[in-house]
Amino acid sequence: MTNWTRKDLLALYDLDAGEIQLILDTAQEFKKVSERRVKKVPALRGKTVVNFFVEPSTRTRASFELAEQRLSADIVNMSASTSSLSKGETLLDTAKNIEALQVDLIVMRHSAAGSHNFLAKHLRCGVINAGDGAHEHPTQALLDMFTIIQKKGRIKGLKVAIVGDILHSRVARSNIWGLLKLGAKVTVGGPATLVPKEFRNIGVRVCDNLKDTIEDADVVNLLRIQHERQREAYFPSITEYSNIFGLNRETVKYLKPDALVMHPGPINRGVEVEACVADGPQSVILEQVTNGLAVRMAVLYLVAGCLEK
Ligand code: CP
Repeated sequence: MTNWTRKDLLALYDLDAGEIQLILDTAQEFKKVSERRVKKVPALRGKTVVNFFVEPSTRTRASFELAEQRLSADIVNMSASTSSLSKGETLLDTAKNIEALQVDLIVMRHSAAGSHNFLAKHLRCGVINAGDGAHEHPTQALLDMFTIIQKKGRIKGLKVAIVGDILHSRVARSNIWGLLKLGAKVTVGGPATLVPKEFRNIGVRVCDNLKDTIEDADVVNLLRIQHERQREAYFPSITEYSNIFGLNRETVKYLKPDALVMHPGPINRGVEVEACVADGPQSVILEQVTNGLAVRMAVLYLVAGCLEK
C-alpha cells in the first residue's frame, strides 16, 4: 500500500507507479462526491489555496478552483497582470509574500519550465504544477489516464498514440511518463521537426506519418500546435499540417472502431481535428474535462494531508 509523502506535485517523472495509482484511486472516491446532490466535503476546511496563473487557462484554472471549493478550502485567485510581477517583483518574492499570508498551497501555471521545482525548494507551503512551459502538466496526464481507465478498464498493455506538437508539449511529456510507468505502449507522431527522436531512448515509438501513428492505437491523444512556444517555422503552413496530420472525416478511418479520441484542449478546430471527430462517437474530450475535477480534488487532498504530517 503506497502512502503519499510529498508536499508538492511537480511532475509525473518524479512519481512511481504506486503514487500515480494512489492519486487515480483517490480520484475515484472524489468522483462520487461530484455525483451527489450536495457536492461538497470538508476535507480542506481551514486550508487556504492560492491559484496563481501566469499563463492563460480555461480548463485547469476553473477545474482547480471548483475542486478547492468542493473540498471547502479558502481560495485566492491571482494572475500575472494583476500581481506585482507586472511591476518587476521576482517570482520568488511574490511567492514568499503569498506564503507569508499563511497560505497552505500554491497552484501555479507558469511559462518557465522548472519554475515550480524552484519555488518548491524555497517554500514551506505545498506547490502544485498546473503547467510549466513545455516541461510537465501532471494533472492533465492524470485526468487523461483516469479517463482511459474509466473507458478501457486499464492502462497496462494499451497502445496510446500522441499526435502533434510533441516538442513543445508539457501534456505529451507528462502523459509519456505516466503511461509508461503504468505499463502502456506509447507512440508519438507528427512532423519530424516536432517529434524529438530522443523519445526512443525512453521506450517510446516515434513515427512521422499519421496512419502508422494511429492505426493500431487503443487511444489517440491529439495535441494543439503550440504557436506561443515556437521560435521558428517547423512546417510549411497550418493547411499543410492539417492535411497531413489532422484527424478528419477521411483520416478517422485509420482508427480502430473502439479507439478513444482525446484532446487536452484548447482545440483548434479544423487544424489538428475536425468537428465531426471532436464531437463524434469516439471522442471523450468533454469527459476528460469532467474527470479533471475529481483528479484535482484527489491531488489537493493528498498534498494538503502531507502538509499536516
Ligand atoms: N488542458 C489545459 O491545460 O487547458 P487550459 O490551458 O485551458 O487550462
